[in-house]
Amino acid sequence: MCGIVGYIGKKRTSKLLLNCLRKLEYRGYDSAGIAVFAGGELKVVKCKGRLASLEEKLCGESLDGTMGIGHTRWATHGEPSDVNSHPHLSRSGNIAVVHNGIIENYMKLKEFLLQRGYEFVSDTDTEVVAHLVEYHYKGDLVQAVTATINELEGSYALGVICKNNPEEFVAARKDSPLIVGLGEGENFIASDIPAILEYTRDIYILEDKEVAALRKDQVKVFDSHGIEVKKNIFHVSWDVTAAEKSGYEHFMLKEMHEEPKVLKDTINPRIKDGLVELDNIKISTEDLKNIDKIFIVACGTACHAGVVGKYIIERLARIPVEVDVASEFRYRDPLINDRNLVIIISQSGETIDTLFALRESKKKGARVLAVVNVVGSSIAREADDVLYTWAGPEIAVASTKAYNTQLAAIYMIALDLAYKKGSIDIETYKKTVEGLKDTPRALEKVLSDKDAVQKFAAQHYNAKSIFFIGRGLDYALSMEGSLKLKEISYIHSEAYAGGELKHGTIALIEKGTLVICPMTQDYLMEKMLSNIKEVKARGAVVLAITQQKNIEEVEKAADVVIPIPDVDSLIAPIVAVTPMQLFAYYVAVQKGCDVDKPRNLAKSVTVE
Ligand code: M6R
Repeated sequence: MCGIVGYIGKKRTSKLLLNCLRKLEYRGYDSAGIAVFAGGELKVVKCKGRLASLEEKLCGESLDGTMGIGHTRWATHGEPSDVNSHPHLSRSGNIAVVHNGIIENYMKLKEFLLQRGYEFVSDTDTEVVAHLVEYHYKGDLVQAVTATINELEGSYALGVICKNNPEEFVAARKDSPLIVGLGEGENFIASDIPAILEYTRDIYILEDKEVAALRKDQVKVFDSHGIEVKKNIFHVSWDVTAAEKSGYEHFMLKEMHEEPKVLKDTINPRIKDGLVELDNIKISTEDLKNIDKIFIVACGTACHAGVVGKYIIERLARIPVEVDVASEFRYRDPLINDRNLVIIISQSGETIDTLFALRESKKKGARVLAVVNVVGSSIAREADDVLYTWAGPEIAVASTKAYNTQLAAIYMIALDLAYKKGSIDIETYKKTVEGLKDTPRALEKVLSDKDAVQKFAAQHYNAKSIFFIGRGLDYALSMEGSLKLKEISYIHSEAYAGGELKHGTIALIEKGTLVICPMTQDYLMEKMLSNIKEVKARGAVVLAITQQKNIEEVEKAADVVIPIPDVDSLIAPIVAVTPMQLFAYYVAVQKGCDVDKPRNLAKSVTVE
């Protein structure tokens, strides 16, 4: 949700800012802008639309100074327009601000500033920050930003430059991510690591309400009382190519092709002598006696991984699991206590609803275990225990490889709990561990057979509505298949439990309606075959996804069958999701949609 960058040093500033913003555009693409301190002046160029529009606008204009800030926007307050684009200027034009987040008390602050003669030109909440910094500015920018953030309510990552402070710019954050990149003779800020990885691997991760003062050869960080804070340097070990397309047409396609590798990275180091070992997570047999319920809390795709988690943990560990959408969980005064384990799932580790759900859980005494992809993210830092998914940077807005690894992580948690609790027999345990280790091989096969999915997508990309139905784990999987399709292809889609369709929604099935049925659960096969007959009797066209061994049987009922290798039913979701991801991808490509940057969306949702 909005990407911000900042730079101070000797490089050509506007070019560098644009380069960094290119790596952040997945966070929002409603508008883009930069402010550069050049030739003693503060110059701002910004416009509605993608970064390419800004580049066009900049063409020929030299904005090469010594420091600057940049922004790519996902609109919250005020429509996408030139005037609502960031950076926003203060009344005098001396201070420029970029912001990610929402200032919740901006109306009150606006009123205060209006009474003091400030005028507003945009509809954004951010503009109050620019004016407020100016209001507090008495020659010390750090002091002015600190005074400002102490009056802000809501979430923010801020970059602030001031014409009267040519040697230094200031950044601050609360509940929205922000890192400081440490270079030689140059320093950076960014919403996310990939933006600056080309320039430095050493970073500071700012904590809530910290204020950073960046000079070209020095960075100081202060708390909200102005006291200097000693920061540890975090060294980024992954490679910059991990965040590049590497010859693939889209990040989404590249990321699906990475699934076998990232599953190996997530699973293999945690299986030792046939047993699951969860890094440093020490939930002992004794601790387990005190856990009478598990909550899984997450958003979107991560939440769908949680639904699979419910089935798996309940089946293997025999502990009741409740799955909650984070934005609902937080505000329903959930009945949690110190006898509960809360599992938080998040790729980015920065989703604000999920972060607040984590805080709510901790406040109520629950132990929080986070399944997170981004090392050092807010959720990773605040959880009691962290199990990283080693999916690497996920750039496409539609989550793919992160989901597969979230499932793998959840399966390992379920196995660990079940083993300690003694609720699993050794044969099932071994079979499941072996099944997990085999998923990369199975996925290689699925990906090498992708042409069949592409062909099917080419026949159905004009569909108005597509249904996904499944039973048990296949129902959980259907939710993810449906979300993937609608978010990137804009085709209306719903996911239904196979047995539930006839309680209303089957009324929507008519001649030619496409129904996609994952059918990987052996014990539910007969029931699903009946459900297929029900929709076919109303004219539906059915695509089934099932293990190779079931092909013959399923082919009798479905119109088209996409096979996956013969993986065990329990493990199947990790493998069977990929044909659905591929289907969504090829439909979107066929429709000419912008696959990696679907409309109205952004990666890393840092507003409520
Ligand atoms: O970073 P998170 O895993 O916390 O993000 C949660 C959702 O916003 C995310 O999964 C979203 O649903 C994706 N666009 C789905 O593809």
